[in-house]
Amino acid sequence: MKKKIIAANFKMNKTNRDIEEYFNTFVNNMNEFKGKGLFENIGLNSEAVFATPCTSLCESYKIIKPYGDFIKLSAQDIYFEKNGAYTGEISIDMIKDCGCEYAIVGHSERRRIFNETDETIAKKMSAVYSSEGVTPILCVGENKEVREKDMQYDFVKKQLKTDLEPLKAKSGKVYSLIIAYEPVWAIGTDLPIRPEDGDKMHRFIYDYVRSNYEVDELRIIYGGSVKESNIKELMDEPYINGVLVGGASLDPSVFLNIVRLSNA
Ligand code: 13P
Repeated sequence: MKKKIIAANFKMNKTNRDIEEYFNTFVNNMNEFKGKGLFENIGLNSEAVFATPCTSLCESYKIIKPYGDFIKLSAQDIYFEKNGAYTGEISIDMIKDCGCEYAIVGHSERRRIFNETDETIAKKMSAVYSSEGVTPILCVGENKEVREKDMQYDFVKKQLKTDLEPLKAKSGKVYSLIIAYEPVWAIGTDLPIRPEDGDKMHRFIYDYVRSNYEVDELRIIYGGSVKESNIKELMDEPYINGVLVGGASLDPSVFLNIVRLSNA
């Protein structure tokens, strides 16, 4: 069975001290839920993935390691070169060293604020698949203007076509791929997608990827204003295999509740 991914993207929030407090609360509350039988099977059905800032990855790993079957770490971004004169960047080996099993690639904030192109994202995807042990969480999604013109399917297809080009060149199957559909208009706006519209796009992505690439384990997760109040209806949709949560992941009690409700 493919596990659901309930992922937290902290973006540029929290110092090491904040992170330590956060995980202590998260783990304590989790153990309390477990004691009350409210957490049974969740670890079997899903993974809680945390994309903390890169300055906190190694510290985070120390705390979450005992819960490694259920709590995983992700980088928020990586660079495609292995090492060298690339000031400010971090490589895949570096994030692996800090215990990361996932890496977000092509987040819309990287595309929009830092001018990251689909061609760069393709290079990052290629780098991830040249190295073992890291699963990419590739982000795609249209902005408001595109949605208003009802061009979202063509737009996302175009992103996927370029971003996933390295999969074509790869000999043999890709073991694991996560695609996060994050419509830009829904991020940080309190305007989440309607679950049925999300499911429709997820199904479109699923069919596109399945008919063009060889992937063993494909999961498509949704991001954009996910909250305690809407997680259940989103997760009830058949093609929504998890979520990527920004703002609502910053409070450990809220995020733990999102994890719990996603399995309810
Ligand atoms: P919000 O949950 O704050 O809308 O952010 C979504 C996001 O960008 C996750 O990567």
